[in-house]
Amino acid sequence: MKPRESGVARDVAAEGDVNLSPRRREWEAAHVGPATRALLDEDARYFLHQSLSTPCMNALASAAGIWLTDVEGRRFMDFHGNSVHQVGHGHPRVVEAVKRALDTLPFSPRRFTNDYAVTLARRLVDRAPGDLSKLLLAPGGAEAIGMALKLARLSTGRHKTISMWDAFHGASLDAISIGGEALFRRDMGPLLPGTEHVPPCDPRACGFGCGGRCNARCADYVDYVLGKEEDVAAVVVETIRSTDVQVPPRAYYEKLRGACDRHGALLILDEIPIGLGRTGTMFAFEHYGIVPDMVVLGKGLGGGVFPMAALIAREGLDVAADRALGHYTHEKSSVGCAAALATLDVIDDERLCERAQRLGERALTRLREMQRRLPIVGDVRGIGLLLGVELVDPATHAPARDVAERVLYECLSSGLSFKVGQGNVLVLAPPLVIGDADLDRALDVVEHAIAACGS
Ligand SMILES: Cc1ncc(COP(=O)(O)O)c(C=O)c1O
Repeated sequence: MKPRESGVARDVAAEGDVNLSPRRREWEAAHVGPATRALLDEDARYFLHQSLSTPCMNALASAAGIWLTDVEGRRFMDFHGNSVHQVGHGHPRVVEAVKRALDTLPFSPRRFTNDYAVTLARRLVDRAPGDLSKLLLAPGGAEAIGMALKLARLSTGRHKTISMWDAFHGASLDAISIGGEALFRRDMGPLLPGTEHVPPCDPRACGFGCGGRCNARCADYVDYVLGKEEDVAAVVVETIRSTDVQVPPRAYYEKLRGACDRHGALLILDEIPIGLGRTGTMFAFEHYGIVPDMVVLGKGLGGGVFPMAALIAREGLDVAADRALGHYTHEKSSVGCAAALATLDVIDDERLCERAQRLGERALTRLREMQRRLPIVGDVRGIGLLLGVELVDPATHAPARDVAERVLYECLSSGLSFKVGQGNVLVLAPPLVIGDADLDRALDVVEHAIAACGS
Protein backbone atom coordinates (compact mmCIF):
# COMPACT_ATOMS: atom_id res chain seq x y z
CA MET A 1 0.00 0.00 0.00
CA LYS A 2 1.22 3.47 -0.86
CA PRO A 3 2.19 5.44 2.24
CA ARG A 4 -0.24 8.29 2.69
CA GLU A 5 0.63 11.92 2.63
CA SER A 6 0.81 12.97 6.24
CA GLY A 7 -0.46 16.09 7.93
CA VAL A 8 -3.06 16.99 5.32
CA ALA A 9 -6.61 17.76 6.42
CA ARG A 10 -8.74 16.08 3.76
CA ASP A 11 -11.99 15.35 5.60
CA VAL A 12 -14.25 17.98 6.95
CA ALA A 13 -17.32 15.80 7.36
CA ALA A 14 -16.12 13.50 10.10
CA GLU A 15 -17.24 12.05 13.40
CA GLY A 16 -15.79 15.07 15.18
CA ASP A 17 -13.87 18.24 14.52
CA VAL A 18 -10.42 17.56 13.07
CA ASN A 19 -7.33 19.04 14.62
CA LEU A 20 -5.46 20.19 11.54
CA SER A 21 -7.57 23.16 10.61
CA PRO A 22 -6.20 26.71 10.35
CA ARG A 23 -8.99 27.93 12.66
CA ARG A 24 -7.80 25.65 15.40
CA ARG A 25 -4.28 27.01 15.04
CA GLU A 26 -5.68 30.56 15.18
CA TRP A 27 -7.58 29.75 18.39
CA GLU A 28 -4.47 28.33 19.96
CA ALA A 29 -2.36 31.31 18.94
CA ALA A 30 -4.89 33.69 20.48
CA HIS A 31 -5.57 31.79 23.69
CA VAL A 32 -2.83 29.54 24.93
CA GLY A 33 0.04 30.94 26.94
CA PRO A 34 3.65 29.69 27.21
CA ALA A 35 2.99 27.06 29.90
CA THR A 36 0.19 25.47 27.89
CA ARG A 37 2.23 25.74 24.71
CA ALA A 38 5.09 23.86 26.32
CA LEU A 39 2.75 21.05 27.41
CA LEU A 40 1.11 20.87 23.97
CA ASP A 41 4.52 20.66 22.32
CA GLU A 42 5.56 17.83 24.63
CA ASP A 43 2.27 16.05 23.92
CA ALA A 44 2.85 16.40 20.19
CA ARG A 45 6.43 15.22 20.60
CA TYR A 46 5.58 11.93 22.29
CA PHE A 47 2.12 10.94 21.12
CA LEU A 48 1.65 9.64 17.61
CA HIS A 49 -0.28 12.26 15.70
CA GLN A 50 -3.85 11.45 14.64
CA SER A 51 -6.53 13.62 13.16
CA LEU A 52 -9.08 13.83 15.97
CA SER A 53 -6.74 14.19 18.94
CA THR A 54 -2.96 14.77 18.93
CA PRO A 55 -1.87 17.55 18.41
CA CYS A 56 -4.27 18.89 21.03
CA MET A 57 -5.43 22.48 21.30
CA ASN A 58 -5.34 23.06 25.03
CA ALA A 59 -4.45 21.30 28.29
CA LEU A 60 -6.69 20.61 31.26
CA ALA A 61 -5.96 20.95 34.94
CA SER A 62 -9.26 19.71 36.39
CA ALA A 63 -12.79 18.56 35.67
CA ALA A 64 -15.74 18.77 38.06
CA GLY A 65 -19.47 18.53 37.41
CA ILE A 66 -20.23 20.32 34.14
CA TRP A 67 -16.92 22.18 34.15
CA LEU A 68 -13.49 21.67 32.64
CA THR A 69 -10.70 23.97 33.82
CA ASP A 70 -7.59 24.44 31.72
CA VAL A 71 -4.07 24.93 33.07
CA GLU A 72 -4.45 28.70 32.74
CA GLY A 73 -7.61 28.72 34.84
CA ARG A 74 -10.16 29.18 32.02
CA ARG A 75 -13.38 27.27 32.52
CA PHE A 76 -15.49 25.52 29.88
CA MET A 77 -18.93 23.99 30.24
CA ASP A 78 -18.45 20.50 28.86
CA PHE A 79 -21.16 19.72 26.31
CA HIS A 80 -18.98 17.06 24.67
CA GLY A 81 -17.28 15.03 27.40
CA ASN A 82 -16.55 12.25 24.89
CA SER A 83 -20.03 11.09 26.00
CA VAL A 84 -18.75 9.75 29.33
CA HIS A 85 -20.32 12.53 31.38
CA GLN A 86 -23.97 11.65 32.05
CA VAL A 87 -23.39 12.15 35.80
CA GLY A 88 -20.90 15.00 35.31
CA HIS A 89 -17.19 14.85 35.94
CA GLY A 90 -15.97 13.41 39.22
CA HIS A 91 -19.41 12.83 40.74
CA PRO A 92 -18.68 12.46 44.48
CA ARG A 93 -20.57 9.15 44.74
CA VAL A 94 -18.63 7.69 41.82
CA VAL A 95 -15.30 8.90 43.19
CA GLU A 96 -16.12 7.56 46.65
CA ALA A 97 -17.13 4.15 45.24
CA VAL A 98 -13.92 3.96 43.20
CA LYS A 99 -11.80 4.89 46.22
CA ARG A 100 -13.51 2.21 48.32
CA ALA A 101 -12.91 -0.45 45.65
CA LEU A 102 -9.29 0.68 45.25
CA ASP A 103 -8.75 0.29 48.98
CA THR A 104 -10.19 -3.22 49.13
CA LEU A 105 -10.07 -4.97 45.75
CA PRO A 106 -8.04 -2.99 43.22
CA PHE A 107 -7.99 -5.82 40.66
CA SER A 108 -9.80 -9.08 40.05
CA PRO A 109 -7.84 -11.63 37.98
CA ARG A 110 -9.90 -13.50 35.41
CA ARG A 111 -10.24 -16.81 37.22
CA PHE A 112 -12.15 -15.08 40.04
CA THR A 113 -15.34 -13.11 40.09
CA ASN A 114 -16.20 -10.35 42.54
CA ASP A 115 -19.27 -8.86 44.12
CA TYR A 116 -18.96 -5.56 42.21
CA ALA A 117 -19.07 -7.35 38.85
CA VAL A 118 -21.92 -9.69 39.77
CA THR A 119 -24.02 -6.88 41.25
CA LEU A 120 -23.43 -4.73 38.17
CA ALA A 121 -24.42 -7.61 35.88
CA ARG A 122 -27.64 -8.15 37.85
CA ARG A 123 -28.46 -4.45 37.88
CA LEU A 124 -27.95 -4.10 34.12
CA VAL A 125 -29.98 -7.12 33.07
CA ASP A 126 -32.73 -6.33 35.59
CA ARG A 127 -32.98 -2.93 33.97
CA ALA A 128 -32.85 -4.17 30.38
CA PRO A 129 -36.23 -4.82 28.72
CA GLY A 130 -37.32 -8.16 27.25
CA ASP A 131 -35.06 -11.18 27.46
CA LEU A 132 -31.78 -9.24 27.40
CA SER A 133 -30.50 -11.21 30.34
CA LYS A 134 -26.86 -12.19 29.76
CA LEU A 135 -23.86 -9.94 29.40
CA LEU A 136 -20.15 -9.52 29.04
CA LEU A 137 -18.15 -6.55 30.21
CA ALA A 138 -15.25 -4.99 28.33
CA PRO A 139 -12.79 -2.16 28.86
CA GLY A 140 -14.06 -0.13 25.89
CA GLY A 141 -16.83 0.29 23.36
CA ALA A 142 -14.94 -0.99 20.33
CA GLU A 143 -14.04 -4.17 22.21
CA ALA A 144 -17.67 -4.71 23.16
CA ILE A 145 -18.72 -4.19 19.52
CA GLY A 146 -16.09 -6.78 18.57
CA MET A 147 -17.62 -9.26 21.00
CA ALA A 148 -21.08 -8.60 19.55
CA LEU A 149 -19.79 -9.34 16.04
CA LYS A 150 -18.15 -12.56 17.17
CA LEU A 151 -21.26 -13.67 19.02
CA ALA A 152 -23.41 -12.90 15.98
CA ARG A 153 -21.12 -15.04 13.81
CA LEU A 154 -21.05 -17.92 16.27
CA SER A 155 -24.75 -17.96 17.04
CA THR A 156 -25.98 -17.67 13.44
CA GLY A 157 -23.21 -19.55 11.63
CA ARG A 158 -23.09 -16.58 9.23
CA HIS A 159 -20.47 -13.88 8.93
CA LYS A 160 -22.02 -11.03 6.96
CA THR A 161 -23.24 -7.82 8.50
CA ILE A 162 -25.26 -4.86 7.33
CA SER A 163 -24.37 -1.54 8.85
CA MET A 164 -24.76 2.10 7.95
CA TRP A 165 -22.67 4.53 5.98
CA ASP A 166 -21.49 7.39 8.20
CA ALA A 167 -21.82 5.24 11.32
CA PHE A 168 -19.15 5.09 13.97
CA HIS A 169 -18.72 1.99 16.14
CA GLY A 170 -15.16 2.46 17.38
CA ALA A 171 -11.67 2.71 15.96
CA SER A 172 -10.49 -0.93 15.92
CA LEU A 173 -10.25 -2.78 12.60
CA ASP A 174 -13.43 -4.78 13.14
CA ALA A 175 -15.32 -1.68 14.28
CA ILE A 176 -14.18 0.43 11.31
CA SER A 177 -15.17 -2.43 9.01
CA ILE A 178 -18.80 -1.95 10.04
CA GLY A 179 -18.33 1.80 10.55
CA GLY A 180 -18.97 4.11 7.65
CA GLU A 181 -16.59 7.03 7.98
CA ALA A 182 -13.82 7.60 5.43
CA LEU A 183 -11.58 9.24 8.02
CA PHE A 184 -11.27 5.88 9.78
CA ARG A 185 -11.43 3.49 6.81
CA ARG A 186 -9.32 5.22 4.19
CA ASP A 187 -5.87 3.72 3.47
CA MET A 188 -6.34 0.95 6.02
CA GLY A 189 -6.18 -1.91 3.55
CA PRO A 190 -8.62 -4.84 3.53
CA LEU A 191 -11.30 -4.62 6.17
CA LEU A 192 -13.50 -7.48 7.42
CA PRO A 193 -15.18 -9.37 4.57
CA GLY A 194 -18.94 -9.39 4.30
CA THR A 195 -19.43 -6.04 5.97
CA GLU A 196 -22.03 -4.49 3.72
CA HIS A 197 -23.21 -0.94 4.12
CA VAL A 198 -26.54 0.72 3.45
CA PRO A 199 -27.67 4.34 3.71
CA PRO A 200 -28.45 5.41 7.26
CA CYS A 201 -31.76 6.88 8.36
CA ASP A 202 -30.54 10.43 7.73
CA PRO A 203 -32.63 12.90 5.75
CA ARG A 204 -29.46 14.49 4.29
CA ALA A 205 -28.03 11.21 3.05
CA CYS A 206 -31.39 9.71 2.18
CA GLY A 207 -31.55 8.23 -1.29
CA PHE A 208 -35.20 7.25 -0.79
CA GLY A 209 -36.89 10.57 -1.32
CA CYS A 210 -37.97 11.24 2.23
CA GLY A 211 -37.33 14.97 1.76
CA GLY A 212 -36.74 15.41 5.47
CA ARG A 213 -40.00 13.71 6.48
CA CYS A 214 -38.82 10.15 6.94
CA ASN A 215 -40.96 7.48 5.35
CA ALA A 216 -38.66 4.69 6.63
CA ARG A 217 -38.06 3.43 3.10
CA CYS A 218 -34.39 3.14 4.05
CA ALA A 219 -35.54 0.35 6.40
CA ASP A 220 -37.36 -1.31 3.49
CA TYR A 221 -34.04 -1.28 1.68
CA VAL A 222 -32.38 -3.14 4.58
CA ASP A 223 -35.19 -5.68 4.30
CA TYR A 224 -34.49 -5.93 0.56
CA VAL A 225 -30.75 -6.51 1.07
CA LEU A 226 -31.42 -9.09 3.80
CA GLY A 227 -33.72 -10.89 1.38
CA LYS A 228 -31.15 -10.82 -1.43
CA GLU A 229 -28.25 -12.01 0.69
CA GLU A 230 -30.16 -14.50 2.85
CA ASP A 231 -27.07 -15.17 4.98
CA VAL A 232 -26.55 -12.01 6.99
CA ALA A 233 -25.65 -12.55 10.64
CA ALA A 234 -26.56 -9.13 11.96
CA VAL A 235 -27.75 -5.64 11.26
CA VAL A 236 -25.72 -3.22 13.36
CA VAL A 237 -27.06 0.28 14.02
CA GLU A 238 -26.48 3.19 16.34
CA THR A 239 -30.01 3.46 17.75
CA ILE A 240 -29.73 7.23 17.52
CA ARG A 241 -26.64 8.51 15.78
CA SER A 242 -24.93 10.87 18.17
CA THR A 243 -22.30 12.29 15.82
CA ASP A 244 -24.86 14.51 14.11
CA VAL A 245 -28.01 13.65 16.08
CA GLN A 246 -30.12 11.54 13.73
CA VAL A 247 -33.30 10.35 15.43
CA PRO A 248 -35.15 7.79 13.27
CA PRO A 249 -38.92 7.53 13.51
CA ARG A 250 -40.60 4.60 15.26
CA ALA A 251 -41.52 3.00 11.94
CA TYR A 252 -37.84 2.64 11.09
CA TYR A 253 -37.13 0.30 13.99
CA GLU A 254 -40.43 -1.55 13.67
CA LYS A 255 -39.43 -2.34 10.10
CA LEU A 256 -35.81 -3.23 10.97
CA ARG A 257 -36.94 -5.53 13.77
CA GLY A 258 -39.45 -7.23 11.49
CA ALA A 259 -36.91 -7.59 8.67
CA CYS A 260 -34.28 -9.13 10.95
CA ASP A 261 -36.83 -11.59 12.33
CA ARG A 262 -37.99 -12.61 8.87
CA HIS A 263 -34.47 -13.17 7.56
CA GLY A 264 -32.87 -14.73 10.64
CA ALA A 265 -30.48 -11.84 11.24
CA LEU A 266 -29.73 -10.42 14.66
CA LEU A 267 -30.39 -6.78 15.48
CA ILE A 268 -27.44 -5.25 17.32
CA LEU A 269 -27.89 -1.74 18.68
CA ASP A 270 -24.92 0.42 19.57
CA GLU A 271 -25.86 2.74 22.44
CA ILE A 272 -22.30 3.39 23.58
CA PRO A 273 -22.56 7.21 23.64
CA ILE A 274 -26.33 7.56 24.05
CA GLY A 275 -27.45 4.94 26.56
CA LEU A 276 -27.77 5.45 30.31
CA GLY A 277 -30.27 8.29 30.28
CA ARG A 278 -28.85 10.62 27.64
CA THR A 279 -32.00 10.41 25.48
CA GLY A 280 -34.40 10.46 28.43
CA THR A 281 -34.64 6.70 28.85
CA MET A 282 -32.12 4.24 30.23
CA PHE A 283 -31.82 2.51 26.84
CA ALA A 284 -32.50 4.59 23.75
CA PHE A 285 -34.36 1.71 22.05
CA GLU A 286 -37.08 2.07 24.69
CA HIS A 287 -38.34 5.03 22.63
CA TYR A 288 -39.14 2.61 19.82
CA GLY A 289 -41.09 -0.22 21.43
CA ILE A 290 -38.69 -2.87 20.13
CA VAL A 291 -36.05 -5.03 21.83
CA PRO A 292 -32.77 -5.81 20.01
CA ASP A 293 -30.98 -9.15 20.19
CA MET A 294 -27.96 -7.37 21.61
CA VAL A 295 -27.30 -3.88 22.89
CA VAL A 296 -23.90 -2.38 23.58
CA LEU A 297 -23.31 0.20 26.31
CA GLY A 298 -20.06 1.99 27.11
CA LYS A 299 -18.55 5.39 27.79
CA GLY A 300 -20.62 6.83 30.68
CA LEU A 301 -21.02 3.36 32.17
CA GLY A 302 -17.71 3.92 33.97
CA GLY A 303 -19.03 7.16 35.48
CA GLY A 304 -16.55 9.18 33.46
CA VAL A 305 -13.66 7.87 35.50
CA PHE A 306 -13.07 4.33 34.31
CA PRO A 307 -13.19 2.67 30.86
CA MET A 308 -16.20 0.34 30.94
CA ALA A 309 -18.50 -1.17 28.33
CA ALA A 310 -21.08 -3.93 28.29
CA LEU A 311 -22.59 -6.23 25.69
CA ILE A 312 -26.06 -7.32 26.81
CA ALA A 313 -27.57 -10.19 24.84
CA ARG A 314 -30.70 -12.32 24.72
CA GLU A 315 -30.64 -15.37 26.99
CA GLY A 316 -30.75 -17.61 23.89
CA LEU A 317 -27.42 -16.22 22.68
CA ASP A 318 -25.45 -17.85 25.47
CA VAL A 319 -23.91 -20.25 22.95
CA ALA A 320 -20.15 -19.73 23.16
CA ALA A 321 -19.14 -21.49 26.35
CA ASP A 322 -16.21 -23.20 24.60
CA ARG A 323 -14.95 -20.07 22.79
CA ALA A 324 -13.45 -16.77 23.86
CA LEU A 325 -15.56 -13.76 22.99
CA GLY A 326 -13.83 -11.16 25.10
CA HIS A 327 -11.02 -12.37 27.29
CA TYR A 328 -10.05 -8.83 28.21
CA THR A 329 -7.60 -8.23 31.03
CA HIS A 330 -9.90 -5.77 32.78
CA GLU A 331 -13.18 -7.51 31.89
CA LYS A 332 -14.53 -7.78 35.43
CA SER A 333 -12.70 -4.80 36.84
CA SER A 334 -13.73 -4.37 40.47
CA VAL A 335 -12.92 -0.66 40.29
CA GLY A 336 -14.73 -0.15 36.99
CA CYS A 337 -17.77 -2.08 38.18
CA ALA A 338 -17.84 -0.04 41.41
CA ALA A 339 -17.82 3.12 39.27
CA ALA A 340 -20.63 1.73 37.11
CA LEU A 341 -22.76 0.75 40.10
CA ALA A 342 -22.41 4.22 41.59
CA THR A 343 -23.28 5.70 38.19
CA LEU A 344 -26.49 3.66 37.99
CA ASP A 345 -27.35 4.77 41.54
CA VAL A 346 -26.84 8.42 40.62
CA ILE A 347 -28.95 8.06 37.46
CA ASP A 348 -31.77 6.58 39.53
CA ASP A 349 -31.52 8.70 42.67
CA GLU A 350 -31.09 12.00 40.83
CA ARG A 351 -33.80 10.97 38.34
CA LEU A 352 -31.51 11.81 35.44
CA CYS A 353 -33.69 10.19 32.76
CA GLU A 354 -36.62 12.42 33.69
CA ARG A 355 -34.27 15.37 33.99
CA ALA A 356 -32.81 14.74 30.52
CA GLN A 357 -36.33 14.58 29.11
CA ARG A 358 -37.51 17.78 30.78
CA LEU A 359 -34.41 19.85 30.07
CA GLY A 360 -34.15 18.45 26.56
CA GLU A 361 -37.68 19.55 25.68
CA ARG A 362 -36.99 22.99 27.10
CA ALA A 363 -33.74 23.31 25.17
CA LEU A 364 -35.35 22.15 21.95
CA THR A 365 -38.08 24.78 22.27
CA ARG A 366 -35.39 27.41 22.73
CA LEU A 367 -33.39 26.07 19.75
CA ARG A 368 -36.50 26.17 17.56
CA GLU A 369 -36.94 29.84 18.42
CA MET A 370 -33.29 30.32 17.50
CA GLN A 371 -33.94 28.64 14.16
CA ARG A 372 -36.75 31.12 13.44
CA ARG A 373 -34.45 34.05 14.20
CA LEU A 374 -31.26 32.83 12.47
CA PRO A 375 -31.57 31.76 8.82
CA ILE A 376 -28.29 29.86 8.92
CA VAL A 377 -29.84 27.36 11.35
CA GLY A 378 -31.23 24.85 8.86
CA ASP A 379 -32.49 22.33 11.36
CA VAL A 380 -32.59 21.67 15.08
CA ARG A 381 -33.31 18.23 16.45
CA GLY A 382 -32.81 16.24 19.55
CA ILE A 383 -34.00 13.72 22.04
CA GLY A 384 -33.39 14.14 25.74
CA LEU A 385 -30.15 15.99 26.25
CA LEU A 386 -28.71 15.04 22.87
CA LEU A 387 -29.26 18.13 20.75
CA GLY A 388 -28.14 19.01 17.25
CA VAL A 389 -28.06 22.40 15.53
CA GLU A 390 -27.43 22.02 11.81
CA LEU A 391 -25.97 25.02 10.03
CA VAL A 392 -26.64 25.41 6.32
CA ASP A 393 -26.24 28.14 3.75
CA PRO A 394 -29.68 29.81 3.71
CA ALA A 395 -29.58 30.24 -0.07
CA THR A 396 -28.22 26.89 -1.21
CA HIS A 397 -28.89 24.70 1.84
CA ALA A 398 -25.32 23.43 1.52
CA PRO A 399 -23.64 22.48 4.81
CA ALA A 400 -22.20 25.65 6.39
CA ARG A 401 -19.01 23.97 7.56
CA ASP A 402 -16.88 27.05 7.77
CA VAL A 403 -19.46 28.86 9.90
CA ALA A 404 -19.86 25.79 12.14
CA GLU A 405 -16.13 25.78 12.77
CA ARG A 406 -16.11 29.48 13.55
CA VAL A 407 -19.05 29.02 15.92
CA LEU A 408 -17.16 26.24 17.72
CA TYR A 409 -14.10 28.40 18.35
CA GLU A 410 -16.23 31.42 19.27
CA CYS A 411 -18.06 29.28 21.85
CA LEU A 412 -14.79 27.90 23.20
CA SER A 413 -13.65 31.48 23.67
CA SER A 414 -16.85 32.09 25.66
CA GLY A 415 -16.38 29.02 27.85
CA LEU A 416 -18.46 26.37 26.11
CA SER A 417 -17.05 23.15 24.63
CA PHE A 418 -19.00 20.86 22.29
CA LYS A 419 -18.41 18.76 19.24
CA VAL A 420 -19.10 19.51 15.58
CA GLY A 421 -20.40 16.40 13.79
CA GLN A 422 -20.25 15.77 10.03
CA GLY A 423 -18.72 19.21 9.63
CA ASN A 424 -21.82 21.34 10.17
CA VAL A 425 -23.84 20.02 13.11
CA LEU A 426 -23.24 21.55 16.53
CA VAL A 427 -23.79 18.63 18.88
CA LEU A 428 -24.82 19.82 22.33
CA ALA A 429 -24.67 17.07 24.92
CA PRO A 430 -24.41 18.52 28.42
CA PRO A 431 -24.00 16.42 31.54
CA LEU A 432 -27.48 15.29 32.63
CA VAL A 433 -26.88 16.90 36.03
CA ILE A 434 -26.68 20.39 34.53
CA GLY A 435 -28.75 23.10 36.22
CA ASP A 436 -31.46 24.94 34.30
CA ALA A 437 -29.64 28.27 34.51
CA ASP A 438 -26.35 26.84 33.20
CA LEU A 439 -28.17 25.24 30.28
CA ASP A 440 -29.82 28.57 29.46
CA ARG A 441 -26.47 30.31 29.68
CA ALA A 442 -24.88 27.80 27.31
CA LEU A 443 -27.69 28.27 24.80
CA ASP A 444 -27.17 32.05 25.02
CA VAL A 445 -23.51 31.48 24.14
CA VAL A 446 -24.48 29.31 21.16
CA GLU A 447 -27.03 31.82 19.92
CA HIS A 448 -24.64 34.77 20.19
CA ALA A 449 -21.92 32.83 18.42
CA ILE A 450 -24.19 31.79 15.55
CA ALA A 451 -25.48 35.33 15.21
CA ALA A 452 -21.91 36.68 15.18
CA CYS A 453 -20.45 34.12 12.77
CA GLY A 454 -23.38 33.26 10.58
CA SER A 455 -24.68 36.56 9.33
C1 LIG B 1 -21.53 5.01 18.60
C2 LIG B 1 -20.19 4.62 19.13
N1 LIG B 1 -19.86 3.31 19.11
C3 LIG B 1 -18.65 2.90 19.57
C4 LIG B 1 -17.73 3.78 20.07
C5 LIG B 1 -16.39 3.28 20.54
O1 LIG B 1 -16.25 3.37 21.93
P1 LIG B 1 -14.77 3.36 22.55
O2 LIG B 1 -14.16 4.68 22.20
O3 LIG B 1 -14.99 3.18 24.02
O4 LIG B 1 -14.04 2.22 21.93
C6 LIG B 1 -18.05 5.14 20.10
C7 LIG B 1 -17.05 6.12 20.61
O5 LIG B 1 -17.11 7.30 20.35
C8 LIG B 1 -19.30 5.58 19.63
O6 LIG B 1 -19.63 6.87 19.63
